[in-house]
Parts: sequence; structure tokens; C-alpha cells
Amino acid sequence: MSDAHWHILGAGAIGCLFAARLQQAGAGVTLLLREPASDEAVELLLEQGEQQQRLQLPASNCLAQSPISHLLVCTKAYDVAAAVDSVAHRLNPDSQVLLLANGMGFDQPLVQNYPWMQLYYGTTTEGAYRLAPRHIRHAGRGQTRLGRPGQEKPAPWFASWPRALQHCHWEADMEQALWAKLAINCAINPLTAIHQCRNGELEHNPQLAAQVSALCAEIAAVCTAAGYTGLATGLQREVQSVIRSTANNQSSMLQDVQNARPTEIDYITGHLLAVAARHGIATPRNSTLFTGVKALGT
Ligand code: PAF
Repeated sequence: MSDAHWHILGAGAIGCLFAARLQQAGAGVTLLLREPASDEAVELLLEQGEQQQRLQLPASNCLAQSPISHLLVCTKAYDVAAAVDSVAHRLNPDSQVLLLANGMGFDQPLVQNYPWMQLYYGTTTEGAYRLAPRHIRHAGRGQTRLGRPGQEKPAPWFASWPRALQHCHWEADMEQALWAKLAINCAINPLTAIHQCRNGELEHNPQLAAQVSALCAEIAAVCTAAGYTGLATGLQREVQSVIRSTANNQSSMLQDVQNARPTEIDYITGHLLAVAARHGIATPRNSTLFTGVKALGT
């Protein structure tokens, strides 16, 4: 089977990085742009270590009419539904739609409005940031997990992904992978946003470290209720290991707050609280953080 052609929505750091890596791996890519009259190629400067590469990425306007067979959505969680709406006229029941956003629950409007849509999900810890609008730095290699709840075997389009990204694998249990990432984000992101600190402070500051432990206990109770006992058991350890390996990072939520952008709190802690409420589990610490992040005005 020939490589799929990916249309990419959300030309931020991760969207551009994945577009570049897929193209370098031989897949066809087109960036979808929302600005009017943009139907040409975009020049991208990609840096990694000492290396700099210039790439031409074909671009197309969302409003164009040509059908999209494979759509990769790399927007913020709160933009996913509107982004897919903007190209829904180009999708059909054979289109494969891969959503790569933080958190959970952002797909609900899509499930309701487009019950025919074939939705796939992904999480990534690839590190990339934007130096200028079309200039990105691939700062650190991470893990990318792709999958679809209920689909154990890789989708036919998956073959080009491990060629594009060094550590990319198909998740036989994607729901669990999304929960694992959600649990980590719940334990790290709101605290770092409220205390305006790098991830490593959550280990070095004893008061914050104690808060992380207490949060993990609540999050683990919700994971257990949702059926992910294995995640619950290893959560404290996993969160500590992520805090250590990303000690110098500013979490995505802290970056959002610092840049006066909306945060993804509704899809991270908000999703956890909704599941906790359904199961009648008390989560006072997570509730306080939810309110605290909302009070930051984003
Ligand atoms: O959202 C983030 O920033 C990241 O998922 C993580 C793992 C918390 C590291 O900063």
C-alpha cells in the first residue's frame, strides 16, 4: 500500500515538526491554513542540534474543496472541534482523522456531530518549540503513541510513522494510554501553572512534593474507578519519573498562562473531575486546582 497523504491542521511546533518528519519519511503532506488566499507552499526552517534544514511544505486553504483522506489535528484541545468543523466538508466516512491534543473529552462534539467519522488518537512527548512562525526547533526526542480504542492492530496508514519518528508505536489499548497521559498532566500541569514553576520544583520544594503525592492519591482513585488499576498502582512512581526527566521544562499549561492563552484545564483536570463525579469519588485537591487555574483568568 502506498503511503497515506496527510493534511495537517494546526501549524504550531508539533504540527510543523510532524509535517516535516512525515515528508522526510516519504509521505505526502499538506499544511491546512486558515488564512484566506493561502494555497501554496510554506517554507519551514527546522533545527535540530547544530543542523538546520529548509523544507517546502505544500499548503492548502481549509476552505478548498478537494477531499482529505488522512487528517492530522495538532491544535490545542479547546480548538479541536472547531478545527475539524472548518474542513468537515472535505471529509467523508473513509477519511481517517488523527487527533493529537492534550487531555480527553475534546472529541465529544465530533462524536455527536459526525458519528460516521473515523477518529484515531495520539499522544506525544516529542519536544519542539517555535522560534518564529515558520522556524521550529526539535529540542528533544520523545515517544509518540497512536491508536484507536478497540483497535488492537495498527491502521494501514501507520507504516510511515515509525519511519518519520524514532520512537513511535501503535497502542493496542489507546484509551489506557490517554488515561496515563491525562493522569500525569493532572498531577503536574495545574500546580506548575499556579506556582509559576518549572516541573523540577515539584520534586525539590517539599510542600509542592507533598501536594503531588496527595494529588496522585486522588487521581489514582479515579483511574481505578475508570477501570485502570494498573495505572493507579504505578502512578506516584511514574509522575516522579516524568517530573525528573522534564525537570527543566515549563509545562504546557504554565506556558499558556505566561502567554495569556486559554489553558487546557477543562480537558485535563476538568475531565478527571467529570469522571470522578460520575463514580462518586471525592477529589477536593483536584477541584481546588481546577478553580485556581480558572482564576488565573485563562
Ligand atoms: O503538558 C506538558 O507540559 C507535558 O505533558 C508534561 C509531561 C507535563 C511535561 O511538561
